Amino acid sequence: MSETSLRADIILCAQRMNALRINRGTSGNVSARIGGGFLITPTAFAYDALHAEDIVEMTLDGGTRGTRRPSSEWRFHRDIYAARPEVGAIVHAHSPFATTLSCLGRGIPAFHYMVAVAGGDDIRCAAYATFGTQQLSDRVLTAIQDRKACLMANHGMIAVGGSLDEALALAIEVEALAEQYARALQIGQPNLLSADEMRRVLESFQTYRGQSAG
Ligand code: 13P
Repeated sequence: MSETSLRADIILCAQRMNALRINRGTSGNVSARIGGGFLITPTAFAYDALHAEDIVEMTLDGGTRGTRRPSSEWRFHRDIYAARPEVGAIVHAHSPFATTLSCLGRGIPAFHYMVAVAGGDDIRCAAYATFGTQQLSDRVLTAIQDRKACLMANHGMIAVGGSLDEALALAIEVEALAEQYARALQIGQPNLLSADEMRRVLESFQTYRGQSAG
């Protein structure tokens, strides 16, 4: 894919994230790997007003190229790309139900088999740290280890994928799971699936979702 079309796809992804109501305003950010670095949305910029030249190019050592300042969260984008070679795109959103759970410091346990979509038998919540800090990035890296998504305490969620479409699809799925879990908690204590059952689901996903798991 050319850099020009990747820039256009990042903008589309950020706009879709808001149109789908999994994010609002200038919260959240989107990036995609390119060459030895990545392209990322600029900080505090309305997604509907974005043009290709507003997207910032960054190297893995934190260097920038572009007229705008990169997202304040460039550190966790950079650190995920550096640690996880399979990741091609990252979506960070302040989606309502994932954020609600994160404000209680709660991740999403195996209350539903679809939790496996994030790669394991739970979706963890990273401990709180101030937005934009290296401490937040370090905590995110721990929470997302062996997973494709995590929540962030008192903040929101992150979903990664091989492509922007995969990362956004996973963010939508994680938000749906967060909503179901939060609603179930309002009625009672959800029954959790066993580690054995989640292992079976994860095995089945390798063939069932082999081409589309993100
Ligand atoms: P940016 O506008 O700097 O990307 O920040 C938004 C955000 O969600 C911070 O966590």
